[in-house]
Amino acid sequence: MRLRSVILLICIATFTSCLKDKTIEPYEETEHPEDSVTSVNGDSIQFPILPDTPYDYESIQYPQHFMDDPLLNLINTLGNNNAVTNEGATLGRVLFYDKNLSANNAVSCASCHHQDKGFSDGLALSPGFEGALTGRNSMAIVNTNFQRRFFWDERATTLEQQVLMPIQDPVEMGMNLADLELKLAQLPYYANLFTEAFGDSVITADRISLALSQFLQSIRSFKSKYDIGLATNFIYFSEEEKTGMEMYFSGNFNCNHCHTTQNFGGVTNEINGLQLNPVDNGIGGISGDADDMGKFKSVSLRNISLTAPYMHDGRFQTLEEVIDFYSTDIQAHPYLDDRLATNAQTGGPPKQFNFTDTEKLALIAFLGTLTDYDLITNPIYSDPFDN
Ligand code: HEC
Ligand code: HEC
Repeated sequence: MRLRSVILLICIATFTSCLKDKTIEPYEETEHPEDSVTSVNGDSIQFPILPDTPYDYESIQYPQHFMDDPLLNLINTLGNNNAVTNEGATLGRVLFYDKNLSANNAVSCASCHHQDKGFSDGLALSPGFEGALTGRNSMAIVNTNFQRRFFWDERATTLEQQVLMPIQDPVEMGMNLADLELKLAQLPYYANLFTEAFGDSVITADRISLALSQFLQSIRSFKSKYDIGLATNFIYFSEEEKTGMEMYFSGNFNCNHCHTTQNFGGVTNEINGLQLNPVDNGIGGISGDADDMGKFKSVSLRNISLTAPYMHDGRFQTLEEVIDFYSTDIQAHPYLDDRLATNAQTGGPPKQFNFTDTEKLALIAFLGTLTDYDLITNPIYSDPFDN
């Protein structure tokens, strides 16, 4: 006990160096006795391990094919006034992985958003801080600057607004923002991180929001096999992947019209015919409009092979099940999107694409080329408390 207090005092006294001395390779197994110390109130405090010089988030630039996409360009310029700085994103990374953001220190953002799964979590519904389940499937986080709105029902219009919502959600993290400000002020590693990011150590909900948003904005996925293919005439694509790509972009199945742009979605919302009477009204639950009942964000398909299960309720376990659904199982709905109805003018019964097995495999193979292996292993997005 006494020894621990001494360690704590030394640690606080040399706090700056505590943080700065830890330039540790992600795979190095080193003992850090000072990483787990006892605070004044007896709780164990774990320090984040950060590089000497902040990682370079600022200079991650999208390749030309993103910037040449007119719709993405538009969304990006509508964007926000919260440009990513290396210090802001560093603070955001610590916040994203810090379980202290939940009422009982049980979950962090990363509990439901895992880097190795494209920042989704592999579950249909996710347990929050007290074990109760979320109402919807955890969403992948990718290229947020190119998303028009956030959540399945698009209820958050900006990312800065979005990031504070899970913290206060009674199922997810159960925290209120005033308490959070006080709580973070008691954790010794934040003063320095806020100072680096914002010029002084004052902790406010606004700053928490700005920093979290900067970290999320820095999660930029553009190094998939598909992206490399664009630059290399797809010479590394198999015949199967090429067939799937042709199907995707052919317009015959409209995948590319809803999951649109070089970001493969995240721009529009539709009713894709999962059911006649939706249990979850999605956007209709917010707008109250009859034609929005069961309408959801058509999310980005980047990293889709990593983000099962699928749809807002996680109803499909595999991409095979998703493609089977689009092939023969689209359900009638008075406001089924025109592009999935047999008569685009009058609506009409759902289309049946009746994909052959070869076509199904080709589509799935193409979707597999949207996986970005750099993103899911890059240490700049990894857990700084994982040591
Ligand atoms: C208990 C699980 C859980 C935790 C903890 C959690 N999330 Fe989520 N996240 C979800 C679920 C579920 C959704 C979809 C909710 C909805 O649409 O109603 C979601 C959606 C999102 C989205 C929207 C993505 C999009 O494309 O629209 C972002 C961004 C996000 N979360 C970031 C965060 C951040 C930042 C934190 C921490 C402050 C966090 N999440 C904590 C489960 C969680
Ligand atoms: C009319 C617009 C529309 C068309 C056409 C469409 N989708 Fe979708 N897609 C959506 C919407 C909306 C969702 C989310 C629905 C939900 O969760 O309730 C979705 C969900 C998905 C998902 C699950 C995403 C996730 O993260 O859970 C996949 C995969 C998918 N679509 C692939 C395709 C493919 C492949 C095609 C072409 C065969 C296609 N979509 C055609 C609108 C569309």
